Amino acid sequence: MFLLKNLRTITRAALPLLSLWLVSGTASAQSADKFFPKSDLMPIGSYYYPEQWPHQYWARDIKKMAEVGFDFTHFGEFAWAFIEPEEGKFDFAWLDEAVELAHQNGVKVIMCTSSPTPPVWLELKHPEVLMVNELGVTMQHGSRQQCSWSSPVYREYVSKMVTAIAKHYANDKRIWGWQLDNEPSHYGQYDYSPAAQESFRRWVKNKYQSIDTLNKVWGTAFWSIRYSSFDQIRIPNPKELIAQPSPHAVLDFKRFSSDEVTDFLGLQYNILRKYIQPEQWITSNLMPEHTPVDPTRMTNLDFVTYTKYLVAGYDKGLGPQGFRMGSPTSIAFANDLFRSINGTTGVMELQPGQVNWGKFNPQPMPGVVRMWIWHAFAGGNKFVCNYRFKEPLTGGEQYHYGIIGPDGVTPSTSGLEYIKVIKELKSIKPYYQPDAKMPTAYQARQAAVIYSPDNRWEQDNQPQTYQWDYENHLMRYYGALKEFGAPVDVIAEAKDFSKYPVLIAPAYELLDAKLVERWTKYVENGGHLVLTSRTGQKDRNGKLWEMKWAEPIYNLIGSKVPFYDLMPDTTQGTVKMNMKTYHWNTWGDILEPNPGTEVWAKYTNQFYAGKAAVINRKLGKGTVTFVGPDTHDGALEKDVLKMVYREAGIQTENLPKGVIIEWRDGFWIGVNYGPKAYQVPIPATAKVLIGSRTLNPADVVVWKE
Ligand code: GAL
Repeated sequence: MFLLKNLRTITRAALPLLSLWLVSGTASAQSADKFFPKSDLMPIGSYYYPEQWPHQYWARDIKKMAEVGFDFTHFGEFAWAFIEPEEGKFDFAWLDEAVELAHQNGVKVIMCTSSPTPPVWLELKHPEVLMVNELGVTMQHGSRQQCSWSSPVYREYVSKMVTAIAKHYANDKRIWGWQLDNEPSHYGQYDYSPAAQESFRRWVKNKYQSIDTLNKVWGTAFWSIRYSSFDQIRIPNPKELIAQPSPHAVLDFKRFSSDEVTDFLGLQYNILRKYIQPEQWITSNLMPEHTPVDPTRMTNLDFVTYTKYLVAGYDKGLGPQGFRMGSPTSIAFANDLFRSINGTTGVMELQPGQVNWGKFNPQPMPGVVRMWIWHAFAGGNKFVCNYRFKEPLTGGEQYHYGIIGPDGVTPSTSGLEYIKVIKELKSIKPYYQPDAKMPTAYQARQAAVIYSPDNRWEQDNQPQTYQWDYENHLMRYYGALKEFGAPVDVIAEAKDFSKYPVLIAPAYELLDAKLVERWTKYVENGGHLVLTSRTGQKDRNGKLWEMKWAEPIYNLIGSKVPFYDLMPDTTQGTVKMNMKTYHWNTWGDILEPNPGTEVWAKYTNQFYAGKAAVINRKLGKGTVTFVGPDTHDGALEKDVLKMVYREAGIQTENLPKGVIIEWRDGFWIGVNYGPKAYQVPIPATAKVLIGSRTLNPADVVVWKE
């Protein structure tokens, strides 16, 4: 217990320093890149669970994995009950055997800590480790991730287990790298357990120091919420409150929850780092979509990886068959977000074919699994791991594809696609040029989009209209950039903006004077900044400015923002730009520009017809554009960005929706999520290495110029 408390303190104390170090320079990018020689291009691996299969299959299965060309495998993230069958009694013999089989077959191993699946003995002995959901239901043994990251007892057991495995595999060269936990997210749920309540109280106390400050920031004079001591604080849970919780308290709770998981992983990281070799990396695999986690805050790992499942009935994609391919922005966004955290990322899980947990679970389009892998390659991933090698016969993931089908020996259709890509990747290796420089015209289009979980959390809590969705809003801009063929980094706010010709900060409701100053400097030095709906309304704690509406950005955008409007989905707002009409009804900021600010678009109906909707101004060597409305189809957003690029004298491509073209390590890669074939304008002198100039849906083309 003492050790545990100390570790937590150390982790917490080290966090700000670490994050500073990581965001402030290239040191971290270089240090994470060192784990992956560029010439390996992109090793491909597959998950295997020795503990789930009869012992006599292991040798056959792992041999098969090597035969079909997998470079690495992935063990142990759900194996705690096998590693520590009884309290304090660790059994690694079975895992050693699997590691050795992999080694003998030339397959590297990603070893995991199995913290998401505590053994039943632990939970029966210490039910206080279990998390409690928003309805007050205590999660129970029988699935996974049922424990509270805040529970000191759980953390103590996790620490012992991680120490045991770290010591056991200390300096073991057969281990390539480590994964902590698995998709730490509680699968979208928040924790309201007594341990979380206690930890939240500590977190707010640490943040505010005095209860008066908390009362002020949370606005507790409202409805007599007022506290006289930190002991009275309870997590704001809308399910146990009659009316709206304090938005400031909710924002703090979201920030706390994200810090809590970061801290939980930091605890494991620090233990492992004491024992393992410096060339062995440590990561965790995140789902970008699941809200308790902010990947950009996880700067206490060597790098962060992501997991991706596109075809499960939720994502309609494009055209009638889009549900079999997913959206073009899905893998693209994950690539551009995770890579930009510190310059290095990988795909830890990629959908292997049909799955079992979706809204409905269709067959993916033949060829699309191969296309996804190439799309991951295009986005700079250092490796791709497939989930999972064998289709399970029992358990909660029956009906879930693997590389190998239920008979245990025959590759599935999508397994064959993996095998094909492995061969294709080998075939392009001779063309790899380590010194390849990003083509100038491509680099000139580079853009950054600032991704801000704080803003997302704030707007999830106070959308103001049921139609508002932070992520969709951001995606309209991001998607347009991809159609321009622009390389995009999705960055955290703390990053340096200066290298990006174009910078977009979507729906930046929460800000401070320092950020406005950084944006202003960026523009004065020649950057092209695009700000959008809702920006500048509140301070970092979610308090409205005691000023004119959104006044802190008036000088920067060269305009006032007197009010905003929201409408029902049955009423269409109209906006006109360059003689073209666009429709909106989710959100519209109505603008009143200063002299000298150009009006690019005006509202053409409602009582504010004739008022400015999109404005642009020159400032120093750059420009600032403000886009008031949020449209459903993103047409206005795309045309505005086109004008920004045109006015800046930067050429763009005009790719059809669904086609993505990226450059990596000297290779051009094109993928097509759209419903129609596209003739890729590949120069006659270029060498097409994979596919052809006719890029069909769910297909790939790779060429070298
Ligand atoms: C992932 C998860 C895996 C497995 C997979 C099934 O989200 O990390 O453990 O459950 O889904 O598709």
